[in-house]
Amino acid sequence: MSIKAEEISALIKQQLANYQDEISVEETGTVTYVGDGIARAHGLENALAGELLEFDSGVYGMVQNLESNDVGIVVLGDFTKITEGDTVKRTGRIMEVPVGDAMIGRVVNSLGQPVDGKGEIKTDKTRPIERKAPGVMERKSVFQPLQTGMKAIDSLVPIGRGQRELIIGDRKTGKTTVGIDTIINQKGQDMICIYVAIGQKESTVRSQVETLTKYGAMDYTIVVTAGPSEPAPLLYIAPYAGAAMGEEFMFNGKHVLIIYDDLSKQADAYRELSLILRRPPGREAYPGDIFYTHSRLLERAAKLSDALGGGSMTAMPIVETKAGDISAYIPTNVISITDGQIFLDSDSFYSGVRPAIDAGTSVSRVGGDAQIKAMKKVAGTLRLDLASYHELESFAQFGSDLDEVTQAKLNRGARTVEVLKQPLHSPLPVEKQVLILYALTHGYLDDIKLDDIAKFESDLFDFFDASHADLLETIAKTGDLPDNDKMEAAVSDFVKTFQPADDDKSEPVANK
Ligand SMILES: Nc1ncnc2c1ncn2[C@@H]1O[C@H](COP(=O)(O)OP(=O)(O)OP(=O)(O)O)[C@@H](O)[C@H]1O
Ligand SMILES: [Mg+2]
Repeated sequence: MSIKAEEISALIKQQLANYQDEISVEETGTVTYVGDGIARAHGLENALAGELLEFDSGVYGMVQNLESNDVGIVVLGDFTKITEGDTVKRTGRIMEVPVGDAMIGRVVNSLGQPVDGKGEIKTDKTRPIERKAPGVMERKSVFQPLQTGMKAIDSLVPIGRGQRELIIGDRKTGKTTVGIDTIINQKGQDMICIYVAIGQKESTVRSQVETLTKYGAMDYTIVVTAGPSEPAPLLYIAPYAGAAMGEEFMFNGKHVLIIYDDLSKQADAYRELSLILRRPPGREAYPGDIFYTHSRLLERAAKLSDALGGGSMTAMPIVETKAGDISAYIPTNVISITDGQIFLDSDSFYSGVRPAIDAGTSVSRVGGDAQIKAMKKVAGTLRLDLASYHELESFAQFGSDLDEVTQAKLNRGARTVEVLKQPLHSPLPVEKQVLILYALTHGYLDDIKLDDIAKFESDLFDFFDASHADLLETIAKTGDLPDNDKMEAAVSDFVKTFQPADDDKSEPVANK
């Protein structure tokens, strides 16, 4: 076998050419492993945690694990286009998403790219998806209300701007509806809303966007979606991307409401990619830092100090429970991170109490400071009324054997439950909520049949709109109840004229 001199020189030349590559070894690496949504690469010694990387095929990845020999990368796109031996480049940038006014009204993916077919988003501002939450001195106590428009929430578990309130419940108990209706109610409230849909069917997200559009809510809303068919890393980063978009507004002195729907699916996605990255599994196979995953996200919701412009970001994370078990791992974690929770109960939901808010287990730890005075006055006894009602409910079957006080409590309780019901997508302005709760707590509903309460409410609103708009305006403007005599006179006037749907006389005892 003879060796040709040209071949040798060609080989040497090739080696020399390759030597050039070796010099830039600091900035590029070689893929050594590709798996579902993740990759490992060798030779990225200087990569930063969270840095954005670019693969040969143009797909982006984010550095997740820094190990002695290689880095673990989550692939933010189609990982099937990556093969072993591909080069992967450092970009020197931490993962960012586009932010700013141009995002409003759009539906985007976790990378901030539009998915609504309405063309390019023109903004040159970006923000890193991970950011340290504002510190103690940068914050201020929550004091402005965030009206959800739902009687049961605004009266019993009031939410303040900058608060983190968890919405928790089994599947199909109206969790998403609470979020969507809250967004709908922000119309004209100087609030920018971000709805982050994590792992939700494309068809579901589509119908939510249609609902928001129908009620004119897309004018102030950004929808971030990471569908179930997308790789786990995109589901994992979706809430951080949404938070980054919200922070842009918050740090410019604006008010933001962000809904993460839901963090259970995000936790599952994170568990998936952690296991493929071979991080050791902990309780329920979630990785050890699952608590930090949620706490650092929710801490970014804040009410900023005046020096920082006084903006706010209110977070409403949603968590799904299994069979009402709020003591499972993810629910307990998120409960301990948030400033309260709204628990939606499936039994109530199926018995027709919607929204199915369980007053006993739902709390708001800071929102009370933000509740308007008028609401405080009329809703003060509601929680107690409901609690004693549920306690006495089991006795209700004995009917007339009960003493008068107990009967009165049952009667009032049943009416309270009825008043707190609210149909889909019909948020109420706070002054009207105050009005109906005023009628309830002052006993005007005690003689009204349960079936007539919905009619009583809408007729009462019509009556006030027509002849006592000034009283409603006082509540809305001052946040306090108008003169009690005036209120009483107006409501009694209405009660005198109220016509129930049919002429049956009202039943004296709470009928269940
Ligand atoms: N207040 C309400 N009045 C009437 N129907 C309601 C109300 N709230 C929710 N629903 C209906 O109940 C169904 C489930 O609601 P929703 O999708 O909000 O629940 P979810 O808990 O988010 O469900 P999932 O577990 O699928 O995420 C929907 O069809 C919705 O229209
Ligand atoms: Mg839902």
